[in-house]
Amino acid sequence: MIVTTAQLYKVAYGKFAVGAYNINNMEQLLGLFGGNVQSRAPFIIQLSKGARKYADKRMLEAMIRTAEQIFPEAIFAVHLDHGDEETCYDCIDSGFYSSVMIDASHEGFDENVAITKRVVDRAHTKGISVEAELGMLGGVEEDIKVDEKHACLTNPVEAVEFIKQTGCDSLAAAIGTSHGAYKFKGQQSLHFEVIEQIRDNVKAGGLPPVPIVMHGSSSVPISEVERINAAGGKLDPSARGVNEEEYLPAAKLGVTKVNIDTDGRLVWTRVHREYFRDHPAEFDFRPPGKIFVQEYANFIAHKNEKLGSAGQLDAVRASVAS
Ligand code: G3H
Ligand code: 13P
Ligand code: ZN
Repeated sequence: MIVTTAQLYKVAYGKFAVGAYNINNMEQLLGLFGGNVQSRAPFIIQLSKGARKYADKRMLEAMIRTAEQIFPEAIFAVHLDHGDEETCYDCIDSGFYSSVMIDASHEGFDENVAITKRVVDRAHTKGISVEAELGMLGGVEEDIKVDEKHACLTNPVEAVEFIKQTGCDSLAAAIGTSHGAYKFKGQQSLHFEVIEQIRDNVKAGGLPPVPIVMHGSSSVPISEVERINAAGGKLDPSARGVNEEEYLPAAKLGVTKVNIDTDGRLVWTRVHREYFRDHPAEFDFRPPGKIFVQEYANFIAHKNEKLGSAGQLDAVRASVAS
């Protein structure tokens, strides 16, 4: 069942985080639905501009509607990830999306506010909620590469002003993470103090709680990188991501949506590299595809345990029905 992103946030806020997984193809969708049903978790399907181009947005929509029929117990929202203004309007007008992200974080504060507000006004007339970004993550997102020295944490004082002026429904905040496989060298912690200050300032500003979204949340497991390299890959072995044990403490402070893409790509790469290394005479894509679907489902179920969303399906179902 497709629900609004707001319905998921209502149950999750302050208790657990909803996994927002980027999807590009059928195998990922089968594993995604299988893993979420297996771990009894609500979830968010994220479609990026790149995914909508790669698979064709109509193909993605048709596959998601079909998966909904194959897995009738699943409860999920459909979200546009890192949209520009034009793509946001396309998704809002399509009638298919639960929410959109307008990412104008590379603009100055006033221009970010102006663009975001236009999207919020149009989305709200159709009952669609809007995620907006303030602050800048390092790494690569869509066509924009932000190097680490230009990345900046969200300013909690500006955050309240931004929420007030735009009316956005959730805030993608820069709290120390970055996109892609090469986030950090060595161990690095989330900036919990920034999450806390945003939450407190929102309250002090007389606003209702605003769910915070964490982008760049992949954990880039060392074991995955090592297996890929042992099967012919050449990933930097010092690559590190977010400590999965920090997902839940962040969720308790208001991080309600956790975006994960890179870790899923690592699962795909590991499965296919190992399969063709071990079966050099093979050329059928279905045997590794089948392994990938199962491995991706296991991966999703594991993430949901760490996010605290595993086992929350019945609570969401009850809330949606009430
Ligand atoms: O933040 C970006 C996401 O990981 C989506 O990546 O634009 O390559 O689909 P993509
Ligand atoms: P990762 O690159 O850490 O998976 O982040 C994905 C993301 O933020 C999608 O919006
Ligand atoms: Zn992102």
